Amino acid sequence: MLILGLETSCDETAAAVVKGTRTDGRDKLLACSNIISSQIEIHRAFGGVVPEVAAREHVKNILPVIGQALEQAGLDPQAPRGLDAIAVTIGPGLITSLLIGVETARTLSFAWDVPLVAVNHIAGHINANFLEPPVAADPQAARHRRNNIFPALALTVSGGHTLLVLMAGYGDYKILGETLDDAAGEAFDKAASLLKLGYPGGPAIAKSAALWRKKEIRPSSKNQDKRKSPSNAVILPRPMLGKNNYHFSFSGLKTALLYALQKDKHWRKRTAEYSHAFEEAVTDVLTAKTVKAARESRAKTILLAGGVSANARLREKLLALATERCPAVPVLMADLAYTTDNAAMIAAAAYFQARRQDFTDWPNLKAEADAEL
Ligand code: KG4
Ligand code: ZN
Repeated sequence: MLILGLETSCDETAAAVVKGTRTDGRDKLLACSNIISSQIEIHRAFGGVVPEVAAREHVKNILPVIGQALEQAGLDPQAPRGLDAIAVTIGPGLITSLLIGVETARTLSFAWDVPLVAVNHIAGHINANFLEPPVAADPQAARHRRNNIFPALALTVSGGHTLLVLMAGYGDYKILGETLDDAAGEAFDKAASLLKLGYPGGPAIAKSAALWRKKEIRPSSKNQDKRKSPSNAVILPRPMLGKNNYHFSFSGLKTALLYALQKDKHWRKRTAEYSHAFEEAVTDVLTAKTVKAARESRAKTILLAGGVSANARLREKLLALATERCPAVPVLMADLAYTTDNAAMIAAAAYFQARRQDFTDWPNLKAEADAEL
């Protein structure tokens, strides 16, 4: 099955062609192309995504991006032959951004007479786990991917959502827990803004925190003792960690960081340490709750997805805790190329929907800003 995927839910205009094959009852998904036109530089000046600007950029970019994705996959960009489906994100996301992808998909479906698959953005993130890594495949992960992985427990963390989802099979999602306020990525972005580290905040905090950890291991400065002294150490709370549920809450953590900065006249000299403290707090909660949910739901596999899953510390800590507390449960992580918003993940989710004949006629396709998983 050959699927063209489109993704325009926020500030990335993305198109990809994914080839799905099924042999001996096992599915294999390979991205033949994965084109992303990022608007980060445009929105950086505003410190966040400006919906109307994003929509205008999508209008400019969508056709060239689709053309490139088709061409790179060896298809004719004007009249591609052999496409089995066009998949598009219908939500959740910014309605003005979603509309560009949805209207383009409807038009192409009509013009090329190719069936449409309406994909939920969060389902897209989760299904990024089923794409073969593009390079340097980890043979162990590839083996796990082909084994019976269900029930699977997926932690999906991005700028717009933070969810623990139990999957009984492909396309079968049960939400076990979610954030009660800010999403994990949103928390990273807000913390980075408080620390004046710029936008997007996740990668900026991760870089700054890694710097502090490196110095911590190989101290060179005279201030090392001061930095390590408990009375001076930055300590932030682990919200919801003690609660006997699978929900999260990150807005209090952001406020705790704000108060800590307000009390510390010299915080600008310690941004790396604050970044580390913040990253540790978020990743401690995410990993502990995920492993707890995996054990209690007797999951066979743990999946990690979403923009925040690009975070190296989260990947490292989840793997370590799962290995310690549930060693028989392998952890699959979406390849870095498929963690932040992309269209290959949308086509991947669509592959399993198309196999179930879950198509939508073009007159009925609608963008839904609040689409639920
Ligand atoms: O999935 P995504 O691209 O878009 C949404 O669906 O929201 O996720 C974007 C989010 C942003 O909040 C960004 O700061 C965060 O993912 N992010 C990270 C990292 N890379 C991206 N957060 C922590 N560490 C990272 N390395
Ligand atoms: Zn996303």
